[in-house]
Amino acid sequence: MEKNKVFLDGIATTISSKAIAELRSDHAGEIGAVNIYLGILSLSRDPSLLAFAESHLSTEQKHLNELSKILPKRSRSILSPCWALAGRCLGYICALATPSFAYATIEAVETFVITHYSDQLNLFPPKLEKIIKGFMEDEIHHCEDAAKKKNTVASYKQWIYTVTRGSRLAVAVARKI
Ligand SMILES: [Fe+2]
Ligand SMILES: [Fe+2]
Repeated sequence: MEKNKVFLDGIATTISSKAIAELRSDHAGEIGAVNIYLGILSLSRDPSLLAFAESHLSTEQKHLNELSKILPKRSRSILSPCWALAGRCLGYICALATPSFAYATIEAVETFVITHYSDQLNLFPPKLEKIIKGFMEDEIHHCEDAAKKKNTVASYKQWIYTVTRGSRLAVAVARKI
């Protein structure tokens, strides 16, 4: 079907509607991720958080660029500006709070994203599965990096719960529109 087309190495390939919906949510998520780090970079003054955000940003930008090559514009989320804004606001909150709070937030987001990617792999043709698996491995590194840097005494339990619920809601919406 025409509307289920993606581009793998520039070659048009048809995938299922379910797989397109997942890719739409992935693209939305990477927009959010890029903006979290842009938000942190624009407001934080903590040198190690800035270095962390800069290195993660370059990976998230690669993910977004790659997904933008794969997923045609008509299949992307119409709410993309909202995902950018939500990510940016989350980045501002992280920058204005303590670095440990920021790392704990990133760890929560990445934990969610890892499961999100892992759950969808079986929907894709091998070439696409390999690409998304590569993203997932990057997110695992991001998650471990954040977990290593956060202060393990503070748990921010309620906030982590909110971030995870918010991510789940965003994915549910981006799968549809
Ligand atoms: Fe990513
Ligand atoms: Fe990441």
